[in-house]
Amino acid sequence: MERLQKVIASSGICSRRKAEELIKQGKVVVNGQIVRELGTKVSYADTIEVNGKNLNQEEKEYILLNKPRGVVTTTNDEYKRKTVLDLIETDKRLYPIGRLDYDTTGALILTNDGELANLLTHPKNHVDKTYIAKVKGLVNKSDILALRTGIKMDNYKTSKAGARIISYDKKTDTSIVEITIHEGKNHQVKNMFAAINHEVIKLKREKISFLNLKGLKSGEYRYLNIKEVKKLYNEAKKN
Ligand code: URA
Repeated sequence: MERLQKVIASSGICSRRKAEELIKQGKVVVNGQIVRELGTKVSYADTIEVNGKNLNQEEKEYILLNKPRGVVTTTNDEYKRKTVLDLIETDKRLYPIGRLDYDTTGALILTNDGELANLLTHPKNHVDKTYIAKVKGLVNKSDILALRTGIKMDNYKTSKAGARIISYDKKTDTSIVEITIHEGKNHQVKNMFAAINHEVIKLKREKISFLNLKGLKSGEYRYLNIKEVKKLYNEAKKN
């Protein structure tokens, strides 16, 4: 569910502020009823009319991108850095689901389906994200146990995670660790490793739920098929 003014604005007919004005003026009808309440939540399945015209909702598009390093996940960067949208050719108003840091690579979904975006990012829906982290130092069994059971951060404790050591390179004194989390706090993986004194040097998201990067080189993307979209909905709703 999304706020009505957001759904109207994301259809492209006007700005969010203009949508708020139209709602207040009683010019927006949802499922046959005038709605004047700004916070009203609607789903993309609701019928919305603005100024007597059916809201022309964009056809939904779903993209899986293998995000390269050095690109931001915001749609409009204040420092004018390259964004993930610069990598994609589309006439739709897509936005990324969740965030990857500037220097993090890997799987990122972009869509104009606000309902799926909400479902996949809501903390109560446990959607697994799997990362491969290259970190400084030798990660030992007690580190892995700490990652698995949850780590106390400044103002919260991380949920149980999947974690396993893949390898250790004595020459560079670095470890490769696979970690699976379902939360999406800012810099979460880096902060979890920092809390156990292993700085992350490289981070790649290998998987979002069942979606992996097979066939996608860095910077490449593909469209999800309807089966995959349905499966994502089911994965997010099953918890
Ligand atoms: N955790 C991080 O620390 N960074 C990311 O980009 C994603 C997860």
